[in-house]
Amino acid sequence: MPAPSRRCDTQNMAEMSALDVIFARRAVRDFTDEVLSESTVRRLIDAAIQAPSAVNVQPWAFVVIQDKALLKSLSDRAEAIMAAGQDFGQFAPEQQHRIEDRSLNIFYNAGTLVLICAKPEGLHPDWDCCFAAQNLMLAAREQGLGTCVIGFSWPTFNDPDVKKDLGIPKSYRVVTPIIVGRPTDFPQSHGRKRPEILAWKTGKVLSEPDAFRE
Ligand SMILES: Cc1cc2nc3c(=O)[nH]c(=O)nc-3n(C[C@H](O)[C@H](O)[C@H](O)COP(=O)(O)O)c2cc1C
Repeated sequence: MPAPSRRCDTQNMAEMSALDVIFARRAVRDFTDEVLSESTVRRLIDAAIQAPSAVNVQPWAFVVIQDKALLKSLSDRAEAIMAAGQDFGQFAPEQQHRIEDRSLNIFYNAGTLVLICAKPEGLHPDWDCCFAAQNLMLAAREQGLGTCVIGFSWPTFNDPDVKKDLGIPKSYRVVTPIIVGRPTDFPQSHGRKRPEILAWKTGKVLSEPDAFRE
């Protein structure tokens, strides 16, 4: 039974609280042709870098790609890498058919892709980049924009030749490729599983452990 999900249909961004934004964010896979301005993308990156980072090292770097021809060629390359069997096992069976569909653009024709790259610094650079990624996606939602993490492309962006082409230093690791654009629509939530709360220690004896509660 999925956990009850707070619905948020508001399109009026001025009315959105932080919680509204969190509940309204969805993976978006259908975009208008609107090209995002440099200032819009910079604003999202500025939100991303407000994320916490271990010992405040801020070990992130960004690549922005707004060239549709380049995105299509990177999509083809990602599909070729996956079709060759590399990293194939990490995908769920229902996602694997996408790999074989040669007409697919794994970036869903989005006009903007932001790569968040972890620098080899600090204690947990990958975690820090994931927090930055979530900030970026929530800021985008607040601005009426849609995002989707494209894990399919992750092996491609960590390919040494692709990194070189994009000016990403060898020692940096691409952590989160995120497409951004103006959605044709915001999908509804598929709901969430109930959170599995393994322990909730209050020092008091609970009448019923959470796992057995309805
Ligand atoms: C690490 C990660 C990798 C993902 N990779 C892909 C991807 O390659 N293609 C895609 O369409 N969605 C991808 N997604 C989006 C998820 O499918 C989506 O977040 C999930 O179905 C939940 O839907 P929601 O984000 O709308 O709540 C990815 C999400 C995460 C967090």
